[in-house]
Amino acid sequence: MTDPFYITTPIYYVNSHPHIGHAYTTIVTDVLTRFHKLFGDDAYFLTGTDEHGQKIVESASKAGVDPQEFVDRISQEFLEMWPHLHIEFDQFIRTTDAEHKICVQQILQKIYDQDEIYLKEYEGLYCVGCERFLDESELENGNCQDHQIRPEFYQEKNYFFRMSAYQDWLLEELKNNESWIYPGRYRNELIQFLKAPLQDLCISRPKKRLTWGIDLPFDGNFVTYVWFDALLNYVSALGWPEGEKYFKYWPHVHHTIGKDILKTHGIYWPCMLKAAGLPVFKKIVVHGHWVVGGSKMSKSLGNVVDPLSMKDQLGVDALRYYLIRDMSFGEDSNFTEDLAITRYNGDLANNFGNLLNRSISMSRNNFEGCVPPLGEVGDLEKDIQNLFSKGVEVCREYILCFQPHLTLEHIARLSSQVNKYIDRCKPWNLAKQPEDRERLGTILYTALDMARILVGLLAPVMPEKMNEARKSLGLGTEAIPYEKLIPGGLTAGTKLMEPTPLFPKIKVSSKKNNVAKDQLPEKLKSRETAMYEEWLTFDDFKKLELKVGHIRSCRKIEKSKKLLCSEVDLGEGRMRSIVSGAAEFYTPAEMKDRRVIVVANLKPVKLMGEVSEGMILFSDENGKLVLIEAPEGVKAGVIVR
Ligand code: MSP
Repeated sequence: MTDPFYITTPIYYVNSHPHIGHAYTTIVTDVLTRFHKLFGDDAYFLTGTDEHGQKIVESASKAGVDPQEFVDRISQEFLEMWPHLHIEFDQFIRTTDAEHKICVQQILQKIYDQDEIYLKEYEGLYCVGCERFLDESELENGNCQDHQIRPEFYQEKNYFFRMSAYQDWLLEELKNNESWIYPGRYRNELIQFLKAPLQDLCISRPKKRLTWGIDLPFDGNFVTYVWFDALLNYVSALGWPEGEKYFKYWPHVHHTIGKDILKTHGIYWPCMLKAAGLPVFKKIVVHGHWVVGGSKMSKSLGNVVDPLSMKDQLGVDALRYYLIRDMSFGEDSNFTEDLAITRYNGDLANNFGNLLNRSISMSRNNFEGCVPPLGEVGDLEKDIQNLFSKGVEVCREYILCFQPHLTLEHIARLSSQVNKYIDRCKPWNLAKQPEDRERLGTILYTALDMARILVGLLAPVMPEKMNEARKSLGLGTEAIPYEKLIPGGLTAGTKLMEPTPLFPKIKVSSKKNNVAKDQLPEKLKSRETAMYEEWLTFDDFKKLELKVGHIRSCRKIEKSKKLLCSEVDLGEGRMRSIVSGAAEFYTPAEMKDRRVIVVANLKPVKLMGEVSEGMILFSDENGKLVLIEAPEGVKAGVIVR
């Protein structure tokens, strides 16, 4: 019996409507929960809304309604949005819930009674966007770095929590517990932060300035600071101190957060828990930001993406797939419609969708609409079965260590292996010879059986589409249990449905997402202009000829440590010789047979005596080169744009 698994999202501020960034956190948490449920764990998923504080009051006043009416409306929007994105949470908490308020007051009173809260006169710079006081070091030209707004100066009496007393304890915990914060670099960030003296935390707001909050139980002239109130949602939701759910799930809590709220979760929260006498969380998992047009999505920059805006074109499940697959967990990622469509066409339409369609169609056409019997199994079948037996375990491991993007990458690799197996066995030729019927059945059974396993693995990410896929495979609507995700689980003779393509190919329109500079919102424009000294127009870009190239062979250039020379097929009926500086990262054998992106119309040059007729593209992260590969199945010579 495994441990329960409790996972939370941040509770979202209701001052703005849900956007793709909020959607990502909630989808990734949903995917992790669904995978844990698939593995048989008792998983519990909490999300909700953060409804107090100054910025909510400001937004309500702009909307001309009272705060309660305002928060009711926007909280409802979040609540209603999630099912549209196929998110299935177990509980939705609001910080205006009566039970939550009681919990916050009980914990405040407990800490106050321990003499860990005191009153003092304070002055400082407050950012309404962050809803916290900022240090000088967090300012950029006097502005908050995240919100690009000037913080307000406040001088007032407030209550403080003696957080500084926990500095040494917290530093030790962080140093001793390597897996506490994931990915590790965020733990390092916190350790670094704790090298400077930790200040006590201001936990109140005077009512003369703000009344929209939870009253301090020991002084009716103040309300609770919004972060002190909000963080406690994770325990109040479980019915602390006596709730059954609290005892069951609290020891197993994992918080999913974006990197913008690392400090509040990694510093304030453990100190609060320690002071209140509660066990600290098991793990914080931190993801990066979706970036649009070079900046983090935000209302003030005017670059927010509505999660439902791509629903019609891509479908919800494919959007979920793109978000999970294209964000290396912990790092930032660029959001564009074209990237989403390229991923869709590559992984879903050409790879997995094609596998499902062709294996079902060929089986239906040749075996009276049913799953064929498995005949004698050869080495090719054994290899692929082994690959899948191990592959399912690999996918599980990636989920358990919070790398869902790698799970999807692995699934795509497994799927393309089955497609390669089919291409190699050419069942369409065997179908013409009656004496090859048994072999034909074995190949098609194997392809269908592996597709079934892929359907099971993809269900937590694309629940609705995989439900349709199960129906096409004659498996009914129930999810496939994890223990059945092993080769051989398909029953010969099962009726197959006529397949309708699950992921019909989408045409990429490169115009749509490439917003021209003069169409950018003002604030973005100035940032972007600062980023690049000289912009290219679309006509400049069109001058570049990017093509898919197939590296047929590759060798080291003897006189150089860095250079490789590749023979690249660009579909021109001759090979191009292209030199690249990647010898420290790739051996010639690793370069061979890759399908890459080539700048085809660069003027030829001579490098170390070798003519180079183009350029192979790599990503360059601090000097580490990684080949940029073309989507699966795209032919040499195809134009990239
Ligand atoms: N209310 C606080 C959290 C309190 S939790 C006790 C808050 N709310 S928020 O509405 O601003 O949501 C912030 C979270 O939304 C981020 O931590 C992240 O999970 C998600 N995202 C917001 N913008 C994002 C991107 N551009 N990209 C990815 N996720 C981002 O902070």
